[in-house]
Amino acid sequence: MARITASVYTSHVPAIGAAMDLKKTEEPYWQKVFAGYEFSRQWMRDNKPDVVFLVFNDHATAFSLEMIPTFAIGTAAHYKVADEGWGPRPVPDVQGDPDFAAHIAHSVIQQDFDLTIVNKMDVDHGLTVPLSLLCGDAQEWPFKVVPFAVNVVQYPVPSGMRCFRLGQAIRKAVESYDEDLNVQIWGTGGMSHQLQGPRAGLINREWDNAFLDRLIADPEGLAAVPHMEYVQEAGSEGIELVMWLIARGAMADVDGGPKPTLRHRFYHVPASNTAVGHMILENR
Ligand code: DHB
Ligand code: FE
Repeated sequence: MARITASVYTSHVPAIGAAMDLKKTEEPYWQKVFAGYEFSRQWMRDNKPDVVFLVFNDHATAFSLEMIPTFAIGTAAHYKVADEGWGPRPVPDVQGDPDFAAHIAHSVIQQDFDLTIVNKMDVDHGLTVPLSLLCGDAQEWPFKVVPFAVNVVQYPVPSGMRCFRLGQAIRKAVESYDEDLNVQIWGTGGMSHQLQGPRAGLINREWDNAFLDRLIADPEGLAAVPHMEYVQEAGSEGIELVMWLIARGAMADVDGGPKPTLRHRFYHVPASNTAVGHMILENR
């Protein structure tokens, strides 16, 4: 059967992708960011999954304000890299896994979560920057990806608790797939940042680090945090962090299994206007 072997969490700041594309990673400002991913890139090579179930948010790229799915699962065979205004990033297209994605859609919908099925979608920095951070410069991405888009852009957004429960449903769905697949689930976006209005530039180190502590040790308690606390404490775009709870909800301990092993934890300010957080949890 398919198994979730690990969950990976990371911010997706677009300027990080630009720093890689423009070969600025050795500059002192960016070196401090990429240093936090050196361990992870080696870990990815040593623990290569077959498929990454990649929870991300689209930034009005694939979905305009004309159509706003709360949860959308990509069931396509491949996804093109979006043009976000400066031309598409020079990174490979993303290969999907239609059979696996269709199975997950079927199982999760039958567990009473309404998913939008997406057979064609371009993917923006929300998905490509995490791939770049974890895989480095690549000719092709070393695994298939099931993109799973969450609306955290246009209110109302899903609660942390709904995201956490959805993660549990995704775990059941993965474990009911017959093929032997090594699956990782990634939660992306965050950490604290606000890009707009009088509080633009807001960063909250203390809140971010408490979020990481609780994500490890008390995910269900963390899931009960209401969306307004994210906005007040972590800025308007800090709400992206609810996506991390989907990945965390899919870990074994939430389903009565052993606690995960913390493989790596990193926090850094600043990257552009944003705090960068990153963590790897392995199932035992
Ligand atoms: C920026 C955009 C994002 O989507 C994000 O998550 C963080 C930062 C930005 O434009 O700087
Ligand atoms: Fe974002």
